[in-house]
Amino acid sequence: MTAPVGIFDSGVGGLSVAREIRRELPSEHLLYVADTAYVPYGDRSEDEVRERTLRIGEWMQGQGAKVFVVACNTASGAALEALRERLTIPVIGLEPAIKPAVRDSPSGRVGVMATTGTCGSARLQRLVDNYGNGATVVRQPCPGLADMVEDGVLAGPELDARMAEYVAPLRAADVDTVVLGCTHYVFVREAIQKALPGVKLLDSSTAIARRTRQILEEANSLASDGPGSVRIFTTADPAGAERIVHRLWGEPEAVQRVEI
Ligand code: DGL
Repeated sequence: MTAPVGIFDSGVGGLSVAREIRRELPSEHLLYVADTAYVPYGDRSEDEVRERTLRIGEWMQGQGAKVFVVACNTASGAALEALRERLTIPVIGLEPAIKPAVRDSPSGRVGVMATTGTCGSARLQRLVDNYGNGATVVRQPCPGLADMVEDGVLAGPELDARMAEYVAPLRAADVDTVVLGCTHYVFVREAIQKALPGVKLLDSSTAIARRTRQILEEANSLASDGPGSVRIFTTADPAGAERIVHRLWGEPEAVQRVEI
């Protein structure tokens, strides 16, 4: 078997990225780690998130992964530079899609929904400084939203009520485009769209899948031998994770526990 593509998130949110990678590169073997024992990352310190991300990166490299995709904005913001220093395999990080949002926003008023960690990160600030181009960029932390996705709350009145609170400042700022700056939020896109009618929603998952292809092509290490496979690991109770993984992934996948 050819070397796997390692993909990781604090929980199941990164499956939204894994899904796009699977679509783009169906022959690749995917190795996914959900650090469920430590979710949510968004409420943890940068140091703690960096520490976990480095450990998981080293584990992936030890498993023979040929690339490490950090399918988590919060972990990318906290640990990308450190990972690139520590690992010898290529590291692909995620960042909120500020650049295309600002470029395509007719009104120049853009929102970002993300974790508290990402909203306060130097990395997001750099993106706004570099690509903000005079636009108004409203940062909206959504504490608790990733947890709802982990708990399988993907629709319904409880989610709608919470969503109305999150989006109120974005509506007041009259944004026409909102960046989904957390991979979990892709799975509640419909609820976000319902709360923000007419607003364009952007995420980075297809761009990351294309970037993964590009990196593997450049390294001449694309898999070419038939259908790929998916192995999913969690650092917490696999029974709990399996229920939500089945719903989000859409095909039954066994979830194995791993100590990292
Ligand atoms: N999915 C993660 C992200 O993209 C964060 C969720 C969390 O653990 O707080 O930022």
